[in-house]
Amino acid sequence: MAYQYEAGFIGAGNMGGALARAAVKTVGGAAVAVACSTAEHSAKAAASIGCTAETAEAILRESRFVFWGVKPQMFAGVAAKLAEDIAASDAVFVSMLAGVSLDRLAEMLGGEKKIIRIMPNTPSAVGQGLMLVSANDRVTAEELAAFKALMAESGLLDDLPEHLIDAASAVSGCGPAYAYMFVEALADGAVKCGVPRAKAMRYAAQMLLGSASLLLETGEHPGALKDAVCSPGGSTIAGVAALEDRGFRGAAIAAVEAAYRRTKELG
Ligand SMILES: NC(=O)c1ccc[n+]([C@@H]2O[C@H](COP(=O)([O-])OP(=O)(O)OC[C@H]3O[C@@H](n4cnc5c(N)ncnc54)[C@H](OP(=O)(O)O)[C@@H]3O)[C@@H](O)[C@H]2O)c1
Repeated sequence: MAYQYEAGFIGAGNMGGALARAAVKTVGGAAVAVACSTAEHSAKAAASIGCTAETAEAILRESRFVFWGVKPQMFAGVAAKLAEDIAASDAVFVSMLAGVSLDRLAEMLGGEKKIIRIMPNTPSAVGQGLMLVSANDRVTAEELAAFKALMAESGLLDDLPEHLIDAASAVSGCGPAYAYMFVEALADGAVKCGVPRAKAMRYAAQMLLGSASLLLETGEHPGALKDAVCSPGGSTIAGVAALEDRGFRGAAIAAVEAAYRRTKELG
């Protein structure tokens, strides 16, 4: 069947909007549609993304891939209102809802539906995202490949067994918040030592970007890369000791575990 839209987004806020932008880069704005809670919001989102504003009903009728980008706690209500259109839709559904399992999605969308569960992150807005992907067995290999091609501009996509998605997303999905806190705190430290704020922020962010690239490109253990920066009796090891003293690693581990537990509570 020929679809008017390759990708339709029901919910195009921070996350849905970022993925809609990635889809526009691949298939163009005429093949991507978005719906928000009101026609006015849909028009505003579509204008900023460079795609088409639609109703959720039209998206369900006319899209090859229908992305669910509403908040998890709103999903049941939104799906109930659209029940007839969901039942009639033969789209591949793509859910970005944190903590909502494929089984739960099938309960709400229909047991026979093709569903891909994803866990994206906000850096996809600049093509540097990480998207975890798990599909139910009704999705064919061709459909999964077409989905990945559609999302290629969002960044890296990685298949992951569904039972690991919540744990992994406590790093990939929630992690940007921790990274920004780290950048802000480092910049505060530099400001305290006299560096102007804007420069301090840029240096901290570029340092994090470069350190992550070095780690990924060399495949070295992070401990080895850390050791390479620490000369005996030097400044860096003094900073490392200060971080250890304040439980830095324990805090990071606890943050991931707390996010995982909370996802489980919400799902
Ligand atoms: N933010 C992240 O880092 C992140 C990461 C991974 C996964 N996620 C998941 O992504 C989803 C969206 O999160 P978000 O941060 O993007 O939230 P958000 O910015 O609040 O966006 C929610 C979107 O849903 C729309 N919406 C609300 N009611 C609707 C309705 N009845 N019909 C159609 N659209 C409706 C909103 O439209 P209005 O503007 O009109 O209200 C808005 O476009 C969540 O399920 C979340 O778990 C988020």
